[in-house]
Amino acid sequence: MVSTDFELQSASESASAETANATVSDAAADSTFAEVDDRSRTVPAIEFRDVHLTFGERVILGGISFVVQKGETKIILGGSGTGKSTLIKIILGLLKPDSGRVLVDGEDITDYTEEQMMSVRHKIGMIFQEGALFDSLSVYDNVAYRLHEQNVDEAQVEEEVRRMLRFVNLEDAIEKMPIELSGGMRRRVGIARALVGAPSVILFDEPTAGLDPPTARTICELAIKLRDLEDVSSIFVTHEMNNLTYLTGEYAVVDDSGEVILEQEGEKLCLINTKIMMLRDGEIIFSGTDELLRKSDDRYIQTFIHGK
Ligand SMILES: Nc1ncnc2c1ncn2[C@@H]1O[C@H](COP(=O)(O)OP(=O)(O)O)[C@@H](O)[C@H]1O
Ligand SMILES: [Mg+2]
Repeated sequence: MVSTDFELQSASESASAETANATVSDAAADSTFAEVDDRSRTVPAIEFRDVHLTFGERVILGGISFVVQKGETKIILGGSGTGKSTLIKIILGLLKPDSGRVLVDGEDITDYTEEQMMSVRHKIGMIFQEGALFDSLSVYDNVAYRLHEQNVDEAQVEEEVRRMLRFVNLEDAIEKMPIELSGGMRRRVGIARALVGAPSVILFDEPTAGLDPPTARTICELAIKLRDLEDVSSIFVTHEMNNLTYLTGEYAVVDDSGEVILEQEGEKLCLINTKIMMLRDGEIIFSGTDELLRKSDDRYIQTFIHGK
């Protein structure tokens, strides 16, 4: 689903041509209706139905239910050890819940075998805290990894790798080894690698942990671009409030010259494609917009937001 710069540019050109005529073309109206009528968009990207998981005596997830809609970003907040990574492992089928159902794209994957999970995992891009690169492989080979495994023709591999590296603004680093990269660059290579194969769902597990604030921001900007320009659905696990402020307050658009720019949500807009869910002791203690979260009078939530 990651489109090329060319597609982005031509989309913006046709949009400005329409504004010039001040009428909506039949083609535009048709495509809007097609989107509204597209039933597959009403199927959630991810759904948990009353999911329970215990490790020994400890309840990690005590009956969790939520949906991530198509095109939505769900920010998951929660202290350390509250089951955030566990939840992501369940989506990937690396852990099975004790009870409850888990659906990806409308497909109930709860009882899937390892083999059945392979096709589900192709729809999912996973971004880990450390970037998790193979240190002995170049940036090119790291990003190409999945494609090489699938024996894709090398010319096609290179085209795809370059396109992904352009998306994360790192095409110049294509020949480098991971050890030569800064922490932020390693994360971005990790993102480029996760985008290969155009996953419709992306799972970010604390992708900015340990990064300085400006670098953390570049990671959030990529998540915003994926949400707004590529129609990706995602879960973004974090406990950093800065990330939440960026993701819930800014959106990406393509300007008249075809450049991607970020705009502030401001006072008038309220982004509806980004929601927050907060976990505590195996329960969801909050679910909703950042506006509601900030207004919550729950002491625990206020302490979490303000750090005191
Ligand atoms: N395989 C496992 N066996 C036993 N306990 C585990 C296992 N994986 C995680 N845990 C425990 O489950 C809790 C939740 O872990 P995790 O999902 O990694 O938390 P978070 O990502 O929110 O920090 C932690 O207390 C952790 O120690
Ligand atoms: Mg974790």
